[in-house]
Amino acid sequence: MISIKITGTGSYLPPIVAANSDYADIVDTSSEWILTRTGIEERRLSSGEPTWYMAQKAAEQALMSADTDPGELDGIIFATISGDYTTPSMSCVLQGKLGAKNALTIDINCACAGLVYAIDIAYRYLLSGFNKILVVGSENLTKLADYSDRASCILFGDGAGACVLEKSEGIYSSQLGSAGDDGTAIFARSQPPQNVFMTKGSLNEYDRLPLGNKHYITMDGKEIYKWATRIVPETVRGVCQKAGIDKSEIDWLVLHQANMRILEAAMKNLDLPMSKTYTNLQKYGNTSGASIGICLDEMNREGLFKSGQKICLVGFGAGLIYAGVLFEWGRDN
Ligand code: ACO
Repeated sequence: MISIKITGTGSYLPPIVAANSDYADIVDTSSEWILTRTGIEERRLSSGEPTWYMAQKAAEQALMSADTDPGELDGIIFATISGDYTTPSMSCVLQGKLGAKNALTIDINCACAGLVYAIDIAYRYLLSGFNKILVVGSENLTKLADYSDRASCILFGDGAGACVLEKSEGIYSSQLGSAGDDGTAIFARSQPPQNVFMTKGSLNEYDRLPLGNKHYITMDGKEIYKWATRIVPETVRGVCQKAGIDKSEIDWLVLHQANMRILEAAMKNLDLPMSKTYTNLQKYGNTSGASIGICLDEMNREGLFKSGQKICLVGFGAGLIYAGVLFEWGRDN
């Protein structure tokens, strides 16, 4: 059947490194607490590099490794929840910076499932005749962190990951969805809920929650944990069933880098060894829509992918939203 192949990958991590001990100066925490509860040792922070800039750096690397000129791109799909502007979109800005004059541009707001959603959307465009699509996830998440909330601010990092996708032959399946009813488990407001004519309070229950009128991320960590450790295994089983393979045939299961305990619980639930997954949250924390792209680039550079291997990607996050795709590493890469 028609599938996808990743012909090039790239990533960008900003140079500022924040260790766990740096957070102990800001909130009541310790390096040991953060490490044992999350697996995170340090994360990268943009010192002002915009979201589009990190994406551009990752995209240029991906294009170079795919030996692709920006003019050859038919589309750019940009996953972010921390874009620099309400308008124009990040994909429009990136298209201009890259000089990708033939590419259509789409931004998607799919939180930590963003890159996987972008890949599945790209697949649909490839099916309809497009040849080369750039997908990119880029996040400035540390600007949305609430530095008075010790349970959430310690989790996040900034960065970008990108892939060039083309059509290929092989297996492909996907499973995507959301649990919008549980959206208040993690959210951040974009604009204050007011205008000069407003006399009534907001209709949305989000605004009555603590921090509901702030732009910071507010999170119920326990709820996220419970949901994530259930939805990841369900999604993996779903894509395997659709592709007609057993989960034990997956060579690499690349998961959104939320928290080491979520990753370990999901692998255990699936009865798969940790050696079948890849983790870098120790170095980068949770970079939301960028995390799977950064993993793919590191794994590609480390030569971990072999022709014909079955790769499963699963993202999950605010929404609550989830996405899984299963495909083979290109035989002609
Ligand atoms: N340092 C020290 N103590 C802390 C910290 C901290 N950084 N954060 C919370 N605590 C305290 C709490 O205040 C609480 O103290 P109390 O018992 O006196 O009230 C105690 O630790 C236990 O709190 P819990 O919330 O039960 O801590 P838990 O063990 O559940 O760990 C955590 C919190 C790490 C956030 C956990 O709930 C978790 O991993 N949830 C998943 C959240 C996640 O990964 N979100 C990522 C963003 S969403 C996404 O990407 C899908």
